[in-house]
Amino acid sequence: MNIRIFESEREVDLAAAQYVAGRINEKPDMVLGLPTGGTPEGMYANLAKMVAEKKVSFKTVTTFNLDEYAYYDGTEPQSYRVFMKDRLFDHIDIPNTSYHLPSLPKGRDAQACCLDYENAIKAAGGIDLMVLGMGGNGHIGFNEPGTPFGIGVHKTELTEKTRSDNSRFFASEADVPTAAITMGIGSIMRCRSIIMLVKGAAKADVLAMALSGPVTQAIPASVLQLHPFITVFADSAAAAGLAARR
Ligand code: PGA
Repeated sequence: MNIRIFESEREVDLAAAQYVAGRINEKPDMVLGLPTGGTPEGMYANLAKMVAEKKVSFKTVTTFNLDEYAYYDGTEPQSYRVFMKDRLFDHIDIPNTSYHLPSLPKGRDAQACCLDYENAIKAAGGIDLMVLGMGGNGHIGFNEPGTPFGIGVHKTELTEKTRSDNSRFFASEADVPTAAITMGIGSIMRCRSIIMLVKGAAKADVLAMALSGPVTQAIPASVLQLHPFITVFADSAAAAGLAARR
């Protein structure tokens, strides 16, 4: 595992964008996995700028997002589809048939929706580079603590911690959905390479446990210790607990 520590969040944003752009320039038809949340917003802004400056192009890139709220059809303002269009897809040159998000609309069979997404990833040849954030409880995607490591795309209930963390995007916590469709830990571990972005002092303890503690389902991100090609991009606030544990 590589760990890159930066002075500020802005440096993480820029370095992550440069890394992703570099990988796309090496393999222009790459398959890229993408996260939502506050963490990647700065990286997306930098990537949009780099596309405008013609330093990178997404014309032949295919993307798969990690997760989406259950029973959303992707038009809701808080849906991850709208988030991704606002933050990235509407500002870059990716064809609108080349980006994908999991979807479990009302009235659809959850297992069928999960299988469709798993098969779409497989049909694209698997994910070359997955970009992850990490939740305040160590979740990756919506794989909450306790999620078995092997599973693929699945429907999951959200913990109170995650619903409270995400309530800042909603009028009230009661409006935060209680379930989601997400790539599983198995889907994430099958990605050929991974970068994980972590920012802020609030995540320092859980990052230290994830990277330096035992591999345990209680801290889902700890499974990444077992991945052969992972680089963590952290700001110094998030990395504060790492030195102490080394
Ligand atoms: P955040 O969420 O980037 O909004 O902190 C990260 C996550 O839940 O994966």
